[in-house]
Amino acid sequence: MEIDVPLVLARWVHFLCLMIAFGASLFPFYALPDGAKSEEARALDVTDRRVRLAAYLALVSALVWIASSLANMVGGFEEVLDLDALEAFFLETSFGPIWLVRLAILIALVIVLARMRRSRARRLLSALLSAAALASQAWLGHAAMRTGTQLDIELLSYVAHVLAAGAWIGGLFPLASLLTRRGSAETRTRSSECRAALRRFSTLGVIFVLLILLTGIANSVFRLRFSSDLFTTPYGVAILVKASLFGLMLIAAASNRWRLLPRLESANEETAFLALRRNIMIEQGLGVLVLGVAAILGTMAPRA
Ligand code: HEM
Repeated sequence: MEIDVPLVLARWVHFLCLMIAFGASLFPFYALPDGAKSEEARALDVTDRRVRLAAYLALVSALVWIASSLANMVGGFEEVLDLDALEAFFLETSFGPIWLVRLAILIALVIVLARMRRSRARRLLSALLSAAALASQAWLGHAAMRTGTQLDIELLSYVAHVLAAGAWIGGLFPLASLLTRRGSAETRTRSSECRAALRRFSTLGVIFVLLILLTGIANSVFRLRFSSDLFTTPYGVAILVKASLFGLMLIAAASNRWRLLPRLESANEETAFLALRRNIMIEQGLGVLVLGVAAILGTMAPRA
């Protein structure tokens, strides 16, 4: 099976950056509901800078994704700036207009993050625009090949899947920043805020994970003809690899929630905080790998 490396890499960076922009912008609204106090505000400053970088990279990777798709259509990268080819791509294909809308959303996201003052309003706009960019991918993928009710169901499943995944994976970044910043003079105050943010994230995390799993299974059922395809087709095996990585993420998340979080109330608070931070970094690493598999999955033919 041949992998289109520029296309897969562009999709991988695109998925990761949009999920960071969405999940990290959404995080303060549920994990720090009463607004960020001085220390949390500083931790979110780091996150805000990363969200801005992620937005720029999401736009650049979208352009590389388009160029790779166009190169496949016209037989090479030399022709991708040809005006007729661009016109045919954007105006004479079913996905061209989707890309025009997506580019407008991505440019708006970059402008909002570059021009607006750091505020809850900016975070809300950034969460909404990156959510729209993530959801609109559904019209570029396999789901869009359906018609009627089946199309609606598959688009809905796809949208719920990538938004739940974005909330979880993107939320891990500000959470890691909070834990990394914890520790000097005002430890007391900050630890309690960290504990509260960890508890709120882990509570909503259960909902995100359940949604990802249910829609992941649904997406698999929509794509595969027989359950044996899971083991006998490259597409099926890619789903198995993805689900296994997801399983490892669940183990790290469950250990955080049921083993380490309760220990934060005990004398071993310091060890528990360090173990939590390590586990969150493991989850982040596995999440990046899952997105790599997702980047390949959408370019593969589900059925032989
Ligand atoms: C943290 C966990 C997960 C993340 C971050 C994730 C991410 C994604 C992304 C970004 C896509 C869109 C791919 C595209 O547009 O081409 C996707 C699609 C999909 N995911 Fe997941 N996913 C996760 C877990 C799962 C699980 C556990 C399963 C299976 C049980 C699954 C099965 C699928 C399927 C079948 C698709 C459809 C791909 C297509 O359109 O051909 N995912 N996922």
